[in-house]
Amino acid sequence: MESTVKNLHIEKAKSSKIGQVDFSNLSFGSVFTDHMFSCDFKDGMWKTPKITPYQPLLLEPSARVFHYGQAVFEGMKAYRDDQDGVWLFRPDENFKRINKSSVRLAMPEFPEEYFFEGLKTLLQLDQDWIKPGIGNTLYIRPFVIATQAGILASPADEFKFVIICSPAQAYYGGEVRVKIAEKFSRAADGGFGFAKAAGNYAGQFYPTKLAQEEGYQQIIWTDANTHEYIEEAGTMNIFVRLDDKLITCPVGDRILDGVTRKSVIALAEDQGIEMEIRPIKVKELVEGMENKRLKELFGSGTAAVINPIRGFGYQGKRYELPQMADSYANRFKKQLLDIQYNCTDDKFGWRYRVM
Ligand SMILES: Cc1ncc(COP(=O)(O)O)c(C=O)c1O
Repeated sequence: MESTVKNLHIEKAKSSKIGQVDFSNLSFGSVFTDHMFSCDFKDGMWKTPKITPYQPLLLEPSARVFHYGQAVFEGMKAYRDDQDGVWLFRPDENFKRINKSSVRLAMPEFPEEYFFEGLKTLLQLDQDWIKPGIGNTLYIRPFVIATQAGILASPADEFKFVIICSPAQAYYGGEVRVKIAEKFSRAADGGFGFAKAAGNYAGQFYPTKLAQEEGYQQIIWTDANTHEYIEEAGTMNIFVRLDDKLITCPVGDRILDGVTRKSVIALAEDQGIEMEIRPIKVKELVEGMENKRLKELFGSGTAAVINPIRGFGYQGKRYELPQMADSYANRFKKQLLDIQYNCTDDKFGWRYRVM
């Protein structure tokens, strides 16, 4: 197979594992395709990128990633349309974001040409894993880790950039009820909440586990200083509908600049929905329940696209949202899926053809 990236080295898998996979019964992120892309950074430069059969990484136990968490990642998807075309959704945003995350974690930026050519070639090789049908996707996980051996607590100067892919079915987050954080925090000003850094997720697991023991699925993180303002939910940005107005909080140091979030904002503005981007007080949600102005709460993110939130818990009280027949959540989910699967015009230029 030819690649336009000079020196992209391709070693094809001898046989495919695809025959062993039950595509009607996939558990998210547990099965991976036949190939992976990787590229090493050493001596101040990215070396020859390569595509190899999917395989374990060989790392020194002293590699910095294991000790100091110098690791960032991305999450994106490939979609197959009814005419057999394969598409990505705003991949330039993921590319820019992984480099932004890397810079914050003192890691080198990855070249754009390597990223796109590597990804496209990988998807071409593993194209049979991208199944048609709305909801079926190939989840793509690029990541960068510090591979340098030695446990000196300082930034590494050797890294590995990798892309692995996992077939996924429609992700339905179910009836999500969230606990609003009153004690734990996810991110602080000056920190790296905006980065898709591994440590941000590790730090969420314990408080989320406690919330799950109380019957919630996720936590809505609040600002670390006062816990008075909502920020984001697990791996989703958050939207609030008060009457017919849609509100989401601004992104900054503490909040990931979600691709789905910015797409929902663009769709809402385009459709003349009143949209406010401003800090949102927890008190507004509680008051909105009392005076019935709170119509919807939903999360946005690549995995679930849009996930309606059915209820929330705060200060020991549980609140249940009304069920909406014509919800913004359903409307935006359908509109985004239609764009992603090439079922409608792409007036914003968000689709990116792979093949
Ligand atoms: C912390 C966090 N917030 C928000 C999001 C949503 O971002 P996106 O819409 O780019 O998937 C994600 C998932 O990527 C996330 O991990």
